[in-house]
Amino acid sequence: RIAYVNGQYVRHADAAVHVEDRGYQFADGVYEVCEIWQGRIVDMTRHLDRLDRSLGELRIGWPMTRAAVEFVVRQVVRRNKVRNGLVYIQVTRGVSRRDHFFPPEDVAPSIVVTARSTSPEAASAQAAQGIAVVSYPENRWPRVDIKTVALLPNVLAKQNAKEHGGKEAWYVDTTGFVTEGGSTNAWIVTKEGTLVTRPAESGILRGITRAVVLELIEKEGLTFEERPFSLQEAFEAKEAFVTAATSIVMPVVRVDDRMIGNGHPGSVATRLRDLFHTATD
Ligand code: PDD
Repeated sequence: RIAYVNGQYVRHADAAVHVEDRGYQFADGVYEVCEIWQGRIVDMTRHLDRLDRSLGELRIGWPMTRAAVEFVVRQVVRRNKVRNGLVYIQVTRGVSRRDHFFPPEDVAPSIVVTARSTSPEAASAQAAQGIAVVSYPENRWPRVDIKTVALLPNVLAKQNAKEHGGKEAWYVDTTGFVTEGGSTNAWIVTKEGTLVTRPAESGILRGITRAVVLELIEKEGLTFEERPFSLQEAFEAKEAFVTAATSIVMPVVRVDDRMIGNGHPGSVATRLRDLFHTATD
């Protein structure tokens, strides 16, 4: 495998950043994960738009032009011969002697790009079975709209889910409403058949997969509401699912100790999953 690190393509096994990289010391960086589907990088424009926004919010510069980043991403995918998989892009504020203040202007941001193959068959098998999610108190900072590499709360919530038989954590705020997953956006389908997901400007990451699914829902003429839903409402939902570049549309069949619907993936989630790639760039 090949990775790209600050200007060079290197063997993945040897790919490394400096010990004084601010990503390593302060989690002072941002990232994107794009799906690679049949050799295509899915919705790269939207992912790079979001990267641009994340960088801007943290006042980190582009490590090179956006066109150059795009070129490198395609190169890494090609050099690793990935047809189906994921590409990871990380940009940090760069390497500088440890100091909380921003480094001097001449310190260049660091960039790392990696890619790996995933198994579409394994993903389909998982989707046919559905996943369990485990609720967890929302304990993240208020700027979850920025896709930063500061993911310790997400790590802890997801590990807790795993230790309770789940594949994803659902954050629940102090008023009992689900915000999002540890690395996914959260959805339910009510008994009346209405799709519900939390508004993007209310304490969640504006997921690219979420946006594509919303467009798909409109195209299909399905009824939906962008509003917060409670954990209780999720327990009583007909269906639930999560969305992310890493899992597309993944049916949820259990939330904590409650079975969702009949305990099998719902027809709406399954249909949205099947149609997903017809709606992407
Ligand atoms: N996670 N919410 C959170 C907290 C996320 O970390 C992610 C993505 C999403 C979904 O966003 P998108 O549809 O653009 O992938 C929502 C990535 C995939 C990860 O950390 O692996």
